[in-house]
Amino acid sequence: MKIVTAVAPVNIAVIKYWGKRDETLILPINDSISCTLATDFMCAKTTIMASPTFTDNKFWLNNEEVDFNNKRLNNCLTEVKKRASPKCADLLNWKIHICSENNFPTAAGLASSAAGYACLVSTLAALYEVEGDISSIARRGSGSACRSIHGGFVWWQKGVQPGGEDSVAVQIAPASHWPEMRMIILVVSDDQKKYSSTSGMKTSVETSELLKYRSEMVVPKRVKEMVEAIKTRNFENFARITMQDSNQFHAVCLDTYPPCFYMNDVSRSVVELVHSYNKYKGATKVAYTCDAGPNVCLYLLEESIDEVVTLINDVFPSSVGPSEYFRGLPVNIKNRG
Ligand code: PMV
Repeated sequence: MKIVTAVAPVNIAVIKYWGKRDETLILPINDSISCTLATDFMCAKTTIMASPTFTDNKFWLNNEEVDFNNKRLNNCLTEVKKRASPKCADLLNWKIHICSENNFPTAAGLASSAAGYACLVSTLAALYEVEGDISSIARRGSGSACRSIHGGFVWWQKGVQPGGEDSVAVQIAPASHWPEMRMIILVVSDDQKKYSSTSGMKTSVETSELLKYRSEMVVPKRVKEMVEAIKTRNFENFARITMQDSNQFHAVCLDTYPPCFYMNDVSRSVVELVHSYNKYKGATKVAYTCDAGPNVCLYLLEESIDEVVTLINDVFPSSVGPSEYFRGLPVNIKNRG
């Protein structure tokens, strides 16, 4: 018998991945960049047990047994097994039991699938003693999962190979490169999202002219600027590009036919609040970004944390206690007073 456990945190994109050029291999139409949270908050944790006495493969997600016959799960398993160490030859024939849980709401636009698949693939890779890059395997589970394989500031390069060999995530810099960087996740709703990112992306690729323009004309330039902003720790540029890219992503969602609405009135009021705050400060001190759901992630530097948390508490009463703000901690603002 062999048992392994791994943990992988959520990542939040500052340049969004939206649209696939290959649905099976999960190859994106543009590069994307994200920050991976610290491992203490918003993580997936997976334990896998392999045993010669197991008669079936089994999978539990958040304490409920789910069907093992899941295409993405099996794609990841097949790819990991292809790269198993010769030392694990016996193990390859044993059945496995997978137990995975998230310490935050699943499928609520909080990147649960990114952490989930990054964690699953890391655990499988540890089980079968795989060496080398595993981000291209995690990508086969959920595109954005490839970025959670690395910590800190991460760049998923779309690659050019038809087989996706070069569609991998690389670290731009570790978290220690910019230790003052903080994230606050404002949980506007923890309901499951209405439109999955898979179907939303597919419809956007099929119908949005703006997405074509974005992926060809905007993102390549933005990626260069963002890498530079990260390398030089230029928060003003980092924040501006993050907000512009979030806004363009949601504009693409609106340009999709029929449109997908992910942000709601509360998300939009956070956006307005951030712009008013930055104007009042006379500098860009906070950035917002929203994924495929109404929750908002704020990026800010440590020096702004106290003031911004106080502001959020004032505008969204009953949201957060004084000791509850840390890097990446979800802050509940859905009970807005
Ligand atoms: O990896 P997926 O299929 O869950 O897509 C993620 C898409 C966004 O979260 C909206 C953007 C991103 O880059 O994470």
